[in-house]
Amino acid sequence: MTAPAMVAEFDDVAGWTADAVELLGERHAIPAACRGSASPAALAWLAEACELSAGTTLLDVGAGAGGPAAWAAERFGVRPVLLEPMPAACRAAARLFGLPVISADGTRIPLRTGSAGAAWCLGVLDTVRDKAAMLAEIRRVLAPGASLGLLVVVARSPRVRAAPDGNHFPTQRELAALLDAAGFDLVEQIDRPESVPLAWSRRAEQVAAVVAARHRGDRAYALAAGQGERLSRLLASGRLSMQLVHAVGRPVRRAPITRGEGMSKDGDFEIEFEVEIEAELSLVESSRADEAAGRPTAEWLFDPTDAERDEVGLRNLLGAAEALEGEHE
Ligand SMILES: C[S@@+](CC[C@H](N)C(=O)[O-])C[C@H]1O[C@@H](n2cnc3c(N)ncnc32)[C@H](O)[C@@H]1O
Repeated sequence: MTAPAMVAEFDDVAGWTADAVELLGERHAIPAACRGSASPAALAWLAEACELSAGTTLLDVGAGAGGPAAWAAERFGVRPVLLEPMPAACRAAARLFGLPVISADGTRIPLRTGSAGAAWCLGVLDTVRDKAAMLAEIRRVLAPGASLGLLVVVARSPRVRAAPDGNHFPTQRELAALLDAAGFDLVEQIDRPESVPLAWSRRAEQVAAVVAARHRGDRAYALAAGQGERLSRLLASGRLSMQLVHAVGRPVRRAPITRGEGMSKDGDFEIEFEVEIEAELSLVESSRADEAAGRPTAEWLFDPTDAERDEVGLRNLLGAAEALEGEHE
């Protein structure tokens, strides 16, 4: 179960941030919606390291309110796809930037194997218990040889006391081992650049001031502020540091299938086909067409009738694929 302080920090505050940006103006959106402590210098390093270019599909896992992905779209012309489990954060990203958002967990990404040109995961790994599952899933959806950009808070030694609720910071050795086990080569790593231009930090602070003025009395505000204070103290003490990482997926070596021992070539294709349909199906299901249909048309990110029709079609296709597979058993 997600800690209430994490829900406050990642969900309530994301929604309040979007409200405050609407009051202050859209130039506040990107600085305020970078909630993993990314700054222009950090994002530029990640974008250059990952060699982002116009048209690249950039999957942002744990995208929050969407600031980093929107920055990459604006500066590098990428096509972002956001993935985020917190509902108010998903809505905030859609409201602020009009970007496609998948409401899902990063340990089960409803996308096709090899479909993303690059991935970012900024300030997320520390908040996830099963880091290995999330990295393996990101590796799966990345195209062969594609880049992963991480912003990770790394612990100087195991067992960090007084950590924000729900956070588990890896040591450098653990991070390297996790990447390796998930099939990534760690190419380069730097300390997150410290400097943030005033033009950026002032806008983020103005949004934070509006949020504070409106919500200081809320329990969720106090919980979220407590999380931020604990993280700041640990960073200031040197027990934690923020790192930027560029990693690249190693090519997947598929074990050769010996005829007679394994499945036939046809069977192999059918399993892949089935997996792809299942992935498409969970993507359609995660769009929650029934909920969208209950909202005013102006708030729709997609037509729920189309999604429902797709779901029925995909279920039929899945049935056919399962039947085909059964013929080969
Ligand atoms: C510190 S915020 C960073 C948000 C965003 N990446 C940014 O830099 O602005 C961490 C984000 O990770 C998300 N997150 C936590 N657990 C996750 C999971 N299992 N799968 C995907 N995202 C997750 C949270 O909801 C939150 O939005």
